[in-house]
Amino acid sequence: MRYRSFIFGALGLSDIFVDAASTLLSGGTIIAWDDSANYLKIIRNGSVLVTDDRIASVNANPQPSKLPPGTKVIDISNQILTPGFVDTHRHGWQTVFKTIASNTSLTEYFSRYGEFVAADKFTADDVYISQLAGLYEAMNGGVTTLLDHASHTWSSSTSYAGFNASIDSGARVFWAFAFHNITSLNYTASDQIPLFREMAANKEALVGDSPTELGVAYDSWGPNPNVNEAQDIADLIKEFNVSVMTTHSLAGPWGISNLPSEVQQFDILNGTVPIVFSHSSFITADDLQLLRSTNQYISITAESEMQYGHGHPHSYDVQDQAALGIDTHFTYSSDILTQTRMWLQSVRLHFYNQVLENWHVPTYSPMTVNQAFLLATRSGGLALRRPDLGVIKPGAKADLVVWDAENSPSMLGWDDPVAAIIMHANVGDVLHVLVDGKFVKRDGKIVNSDYPNIRKDFLKSAKKIQSIWKQTPYPTYEGAYSSGYGYGTPLTVDVQRGKDTGYGTQFL
Ligand SMILES: *[C@@H]1O[C@H](CO)[C@@H](O)[C@H](O)[C@H]1NC(C)=O
Ligand SMILES: *[C@@H]1O[C@H](CO)[C@@H](O)[C@H](O)[C@H]1NC(C)=O
Ligand SMILES: *[C@@H]1O[C@H](CO)[C@@H](O)[C@H](O)[C@H]1NC(C)=O
Ligand SMILES: *[C@@H]1O[C@H](CO)[C@@H](O)[C@H](O)[C@H]1NC(C)=O
Ligand SMILES: *[C@@H]1O[C@H](CO)[C@@H](O)[C@H](O)[C@H]1NC(C)=O
Ligand SMILES: *[C@@H]1O[C@H](CO)[C@@H](O)[C@H](O)[C@H]1NC(C)=O
Ligand SMILES: *[C@@H]1O[C@H](CO)[C@@H](O)[C@H](O)[C@H]1NC(C)=O
Ligand SMILES: [Zn+2]
Repeated sequence: MRYRSFIFGALGLSDIFVDAASTLLSGGTIIAWDDSANYLKIIRNGSVLVTDDRIASVNANPQPSKLPPGTKVIDISNQILTPGFVDTHRHGWQTVFKTIASNTSLTEYFSRYGEFVAADKFTADDVYISQLAGLYEAMNGGVTTLLDHASHTWSSSTSYAGFNASIDSGARVFWAFAFHNITSLNYTASDQIPLFREMAANKEALVGDSPTELGVAYDSWGPNPNVNEAQDIADLIKEFNVSVMTTHSLAGPWGISNLPSEVQQFDILNGTVPIVFSHSSFITADDLQLLRSTNQYISITAESEMQYGHGHPHSYDVQDQAALGIDTHFTYSSDILTQTRMWLQSVRLHFYNQVLENWHVPTYSPMTVNQAFLLATRSGGLALRRPDLGVIKPGAKADLVVWDAENSPSMLGWDDPVAAIIMHANVGDVLHVLVDGKFVKRDGKIVNSDYPNIRKDFLKSAKKIQSIWKQTPYPTYEGAYSSGYGYGTPLTVDVQRGKDTGYGTQFL
């Protein structure tokens, strides 16, 4: 069963034959972008005109005098309008795992929830519905663009399932086909090349007018690549000039380095394809310089890097070449706003600590809400080399979020709109979401009459998948980790005094 999101754009069904669909979001406070100042620009009681998939104008008054005939006016007085948030790292297929791994670590994740373990347990239907429901979850929270490291490429049908779901969702998904060796299915990275070629060759027909893009994901650029295989992938990236290439970069004791210098050896770092290095926790100083000189980005997944224990020891110093991501949203929050707030406060703590370590008293705050807002929006667009994403300016894509600043109990009393969003709003305050000029959420509800059926199908699949996982024993750790580094056991916290009282088991 395929659920095509049939959304009629900004117009109603009766207006479908009008050439250009125009909507005016009128009144309200707009967190816009000013190219000449290279900074955010706040417009109070202004308006934004959307025509088709783009922002036609950003106006200082709520009712501009000249509007295209048939423009629909939507009153957003007293609300806050922001660009849609950009998530630069995600694995959408994992939504069905919801709540079963709330306290997992990265070592456990690899052997229990990752792409290699799941390969022979998910059907194409499971992938489709898991990806689709996860994308609605993201859009519901104000995320409009997602870079999906699509590691569900276990067969032709599971690959198409996730790609189709991305297309059908209406979200702006940079769907990055993962090349990997699936030993359990005897399906190797080189076996996947013909499938990718087929998808890339038919991309236009498959995608239609959905904003979904096709990219590549590959995690074996270094330190010890199979040079022929990696070069084949690099050649494909260039041949199809894909929309993005993304790779997991950890380094440090984790191995899995995929550092900019390693990718550069295959001559794709300094080309026209944007490259997003997820995590990059242990990036080196030289690699950071290389990122700057080639204008490529890392994706900081604040919450995941804390939950799993990748850490992000160097990410604090890379923020001029960084965007934010979410990663495995089944274990924690799925919206960029939460990530942004967590990251902002951990950055503050990090730089405060440098002062405190010298027994000095910190004066100013190390990072502002404006900086955090830019990371969540425009930096994500820049990471994808899409200056028309994550900003509100004429010509930008109409990916927009209206926050219910008028009625939200937590935003009551706001004056600074950026602070209101970054520090006080929550997903429940997301009133309307548009992607590519089309409403995907309106008046607090997902705009797809099939959404209740999607939920039903999702629950069936989740129940099936979760029961398989519940029967699977947890791994034990002996000897050394695959990188050669030994295991270390962290202290566990018990909030109740007494022996083994609190850590407990999961309520599954
Ligand atoms: C917005 O502007 C309109 C027209 O200029 C005015 O009537 C209205 O009172 C203003 N609203 C606010 C909240 O300032
Ligand atoms: C994906 O969509 C294409 C049509 O665009 C269809 O031919 C194919 O069967 C679909 N595949 C899956 C697995 O849903
Ligand atoms: C796939 O397996 C081949 C053969 O063992 C190996 O050379 C290659 O590096 C592997 N590729 C990936 C992406 O793991
Ligand atoms: C794996 O696939 C290759 C061809 O892709 C084939 O030659 C080989 O026999 C297969 N091995 C197994 C164990 O199925
Ligand atoms: C690749 O695509 C980008 C974006 O569409 C474009 O700017 C660039 O010129 C293309 N590069 C090549 C080599 O075709
Ligand atoms: C990247 O390419 C630009 C010109 O296209 C060149 O000026 C620059 O030196 C190159 N940087 C690296 C690190 O290769
Ligand atoms: C925490 O995770 C471990 C596996 O790592 C599991 O055995 C345990 O039941 C979990 N406990 C809670 C409270 O979630
Ligand atoms: Zn990841």
